[in-house]
Amino acid sequence: MKAKIVTLPGDGIGPEVVAEGIKVLQAVAERYGHQFEFEEHLIGGVAIDATGQALTEETLQACKQADAVFLGAVGDPKYDDPRAPVRPEQGLLALRAGLEVFANLRPVKLYPQLLHASTIKPEVIKDVDLVVVRELTGGLYFGERGRKMVDGVEAAYDTMFYTAPEIERVVRVAFELARKRRKKVTSVDKANVLESSRLWREVATQVAQDYPDVEFESMYVDIAAMRLVRYPSVFDVIVTENMFGDILTDEASMLAGSMGMLPSGAIGAHKPGLYEPIHGSAPKYAGKNVANPIATILSAAMLLRYSLGLDQEAQAIEEAVQAVLEEGYRTQDIREEGAILVGTREMGDLIAAKVAAG
Ligand code: IPM
Ligand code: MG
Repeated sequence: MKAKIVTLPGDGIGPEVVAEGIKVLQAVAERYGHQFEFEEHLIGGVAIDATGQALTEETLQACKQADAVFLGAVGDPKYDDPRAPVRPEQGLLALRAGLEVFANLRPVKLYPQLLHASTIKPEVIKDVDLVVVRELTGGLYFGERGRKMVDGVEAAYDTMFYTAPEIERVVRVAFELARKRRKKVTSVDKANVLESSRLWREVATQVAQDYPDVEFESMYVDIAAMRLVRYPSVFDVIVTENMFGDILTDEASMLAGSMGMLPSGAIGAHKPGLYEPIHGSAPKYAGKNVANPIATILSAAMLLRYSLGLDQEAQAIEEAVQAVLEEGYRTQDIREEGAILVGTREMGDLIAAKVAAG
């Protein structure tokens, strides 16, 4: 097949990990006779440097015309000043909104080879296999926000706002996904306090009635945070608000040993999807060939599966990652005694070679 993939390397370690993702996608193209065309555009801090904007109209239009979008990371300490008028992160939020990718799938799978890379006890995490479906274009990230003076003092506010259809469509994605897995959905909210969460719970419970074959429960976010590290293997599909999902997936990445292992794919009602590792730009590791490219490479696998319908090819990448770990290769974030320490490029080469060998 022919496909056009827009790449947005972004900031920090973004360009390094995206290069390895492309390397592996090229290996897939050669091995399975596909033609992938890559077109690079700017986003984040590098886009601000070049144009003054974190996401230009040109980048957004290019993304809309692609079959899929493959992103590295955004964020640069240079723009961390709370008073900075433009921030790299705004580019990513505008892109998610512009592509209307409302459901962000963040699978957390433990590779048995990394059982000891996690700080959590092996017996607790050994059967972990869950997916967080994070709502991505609404909630606290997109509600009304601002600053104002109240009684002579400075104040600021953000709003958690949802419409019922916004909740319904993302909850449906979770149920459809659960049907292909272990058939269990946990909807996470804070309905004991927040009105938007009470609506979330109402809608989720209603949607659940359409899926009698799927087990359903609602859980408060604080309890979910605790259970994720205490009984993580009981979860199958978790569906939750944008910010809750942001926080819970960083926590969940620790089950898999490192943020450097967790891919993500954001999908909407129409093409294209947006694929990116869950980790950030990690400026202190940038340009040093030390970042773990596996999260990005696994995001490339999700791109093949969800945007191009190439399931076998996606699986080939996942098996290649597994095989390379099996042989003892590790980047510094998942290093352990007796392992063979490799850099970003070498890890990419090893995985691409496995894919090429089939
Ligand atoms: C993520 C990141 C982003 C988010 C940042 C970079 C804006 O943390 O994808 O989880 O908060 O969504
Ligand atoms: Mg995050």
